[in-house]
Amino acid sequence: MKHFHFIRGFALALCLLFAAGCTQAENHAPEVSEAVENNMPEVGQPVENYEPDVEEADEEYTPDAGHSDEEYAPEVGQPGKDVVWVPTPQALVDSMLDMAKVTSSDYVIDLGSGDGRLVITAAKRGATALGIEYNPDLVELARRAAMKEGVGARATFKKADIFESDFSQATVITLFLLSSLNLQLRPTILDMKPGTRVVSNSFDMGEWEPDQTKTLEEPSAWHTAHLWIVPAKVDGTWKLDDGQISFVQTFQNVAGTMTIGGEIMELTGKLDGDRISFNAGGREYVGTVSGGTISGTYDGGSSWTATR
Ligand SMILES: C[S@@+](CC[C@H](N)C(=O)[O-])C[C@H]1O[C@@H](n2cnc3c(N)ncnc32)[C@H](O)[C@@H]1O
Repeated sequence: MKHFHFIRGFALALCLLFAAGCTQAENHAPEVSEAVENNMPEVGQPVENYEPDVEEADEEYTPDAGHSDEEYAPEVGQPGKDVVWVPTPQALVDSMLDMAKVTSSDYVIDLGSGDGRLVITAAKRGATALGIEYNPDLVELARRAAMKEGVGARATFKKADIFESDFSQATVITLFLLSSLNLQLRPTILDMKPGTRVVSNSFDMGEWEPDQTKTLEEPSAWHTAHLWIVPAKVDGTWKLDDGQISFVQTFQNVAGTMTIGGEIMELTGKLDGDRISFNAGGREYVGTVSGGTISGTYDGGSSWTATR
């Protein structure tokens, strides 16, 4: 362990030295998200542009506890297939799983699972959890840690490329990748079962706005998590007994018109998984989307049904 800490300390010193020598482009004021993204080195990018918060990132969790110095010890910032390995601070792991409301009924999949901390923590909450990780050494490290933590049966790990893996059965997806990778995964995620929760350490999903964002008061580069709930697909025209609804859906937001008895009313509303709520003509509608049917109530009582 001493040897491991020395290497990490040395790597950090090197990184900081190099980082100090880096100049920032004048007249460029990066957005916060841009700054965060730029702080995460991509494969092939020299690690000197990256300032890993080695101390805070790795202190609270010891996935390598119990194995000897000869065994594999990953280094923060080491290359990965599409993104480097940086562990999510344990406080943010807990917060991400809280935001996703993970319970023992969930099947959690961490895409790019690193040392397994998200998977192991989810399993400790009773969930079934899978980590998909390209680096076989990290897979083995995570497996050992899961066994040591007593959750080896519920926390499993697969050596695979996330872009060639089927994660459609998950009820919760956790991510600590890059916005560019999240965007590549986004179409697949949007095809998942409505209500699937997706939590990401720091990185966004482009114009798919998070349903919730939480920032911890931690002195860490990685202290913000975003939550998205996969919305049901309602875009298009639905028949009513005495009219129709035309939804224009943009991720979890809906707009459009409701036509009843020849009267056309503008509508705006939201989707929360398979639950829809919108206002049209001064009335509040709520409903549940189930395949080709939406059924619910309006104004707190009267029922309505729409079909494709
Ligand atoms: C920033 S780390 C996050 C680790 C872990 N999810 C966490 O939050 O602590 C990203 C991980 O993704 C892995 N990775 C990168 N590209 C991958 C790919 N195409 N398929 C599977 N894993 C990948 C890296 O090896 C690394 O362990």
